[in-house]
Amino acid sequence: MPRVANGSIGVGLLGAGVVGSEVARALLCPSSPHFKSAGLTLRRILVREVRRKRTGIASELFTDDAEAVLADRETMIVVEAIGGEEPARSYISTALSMGKHVVTANKEVLAKHGDELTRTATANGVELSYEASVGGGIPVLAVLKDSLGGNQIDTIRAIINGTTNYILTSMDHTGASFDASLLEAQRLGFAESDPTADVGGYDAVYKLAILARLAWGRSLAIDTIYREGIEGIESKDLRYARELGFRVKLMAMATEQPAGLRCRVHPALVPADVPMASVNGVLNAVEFNGDRVGPLWLQGRGAGSGPTASAVLGDVLRIARGMKAGRSLSKANAEIATAASSNCALSMDELEVRYYVRLSALDRSGVLAKIATVFGETQISIASVIQKDLDGTRGVADLVVMTHPARERDMQTAASRLRDLDVVSSLDNLIRVEDYEPLPSS
Ligand code: HSE
Repeated sequence: MPRVANGSIGVGLLGAGVVGSEVARALLCPSSPHFKSAGLTLRRILVREVRRKRTGIASELFTDDAEAVLADRETMIVVEAIGGEEPARSYISTALSMGKHVVTANKEVLAKHGDELTRTATANGVELSYEASVGGGIPVLAVLKDSLGGNQIDTIRAIINGTTNYILTSMDHTGASFDASLLEAQRLGFAESDPTADVGGYDAVYKLAILARLAWGRSLAIDTIYREGIEGIESKDLRYARELGFRVKLMAMATEQPAGLRCRVHPALVPADVPMASVNGVLNAVEFNGDRVGPLWLQGRGAGSGPTASAVLGDVLRIARGMKAGRSLSKANAEIATAASSNCALSMDELEVRYYVRLSALDRSGVLAKIATVFGETQISIASVIQKDLDGTRGVADLVVMTHPARERDMQTAASRLRDLDVVSSLDNLIRVEDYEPLPSS
């Protein structure tokens, strides 16, 4: 474990994008009293273009040589703010192997290589901290690891992708299409030029894997987490959901059951009167249910340079304080490293939820009877059916079927048989409902 020699703790920074620059400026010009007294010195910053000016950061700090940051003897904490899988994973691994603490916001690296990197950290007596990887500025991992340590967590439900939440909120409030809302999000800088990781649900899967690992000490292969993005959601789904008393959110959910963990990321209908339904725009929210604490709710800005840097700086400060106090910081890592070995993901087949099913069907006699027969034969009970938006020229209407709780396996069988019906032009959407138990009154 690195020791503090002369009261100063060297920090090396990898990357000077929006987050890296914000971290650099906070280290160079500390405004918080905690940072002023922490004795942190920013040593070098790895960048691709050394000559590019970054406001408030002296150009002498820049280097394009990773070795100059990682091998610097005075650097005891390395902050990785490059993002993406490689070379970030290699740099983190090298820094840990060289006995340096690492702070990162990199959810992809943590979700895919968290076990291996945690073992490297533990073997070298250093800490790997990644509060900023989930929920941006919300201190979600600290709460889970520390404050909720006395609880058995049974459920995590979260909105942990700001981009998709912005797009869904915008579609809901303006009636705009998915494509128009995505373009708007890109114009405002909320969505990447390649939005696949966000809109496809991959980003939320990485974050859910990190949460599940900390909550249950179990490591899940990324491809065992069920994933659906929001590309198939149309503004009419948001409108119909609203009429039925719901909002549509990209939910990340994990539940512990005796046989294992079920982790899933997909759009869901959330009852309009629960707090999750009012988490709008780029906000994130995470809800834990612990056996002692009951339901616990955290909400805040889940993305952006300020919130992400806030979480990174919190990790840096905590490590620096521990170093000054001479504490061993790798204990938490060690506990997680030993536990995080089992893979016990439950499939979606046995999931039992209500469903929203939107079909385009012919508007003539006998159609509803054929559709109802499919539901009946697959043991799915219909709760309501509404007909919307008749397209007179084609004689086709939208039918929205709400079911009672049904098994996923049965719903998928029904969906496939509905698609084959001659009276159904298309099955346009199938969205699971996330029901909430009423909160206990005392
Ligand atoms: N792309 C992420 C989001 C932010 O939209 O929430 C970084 O985790």
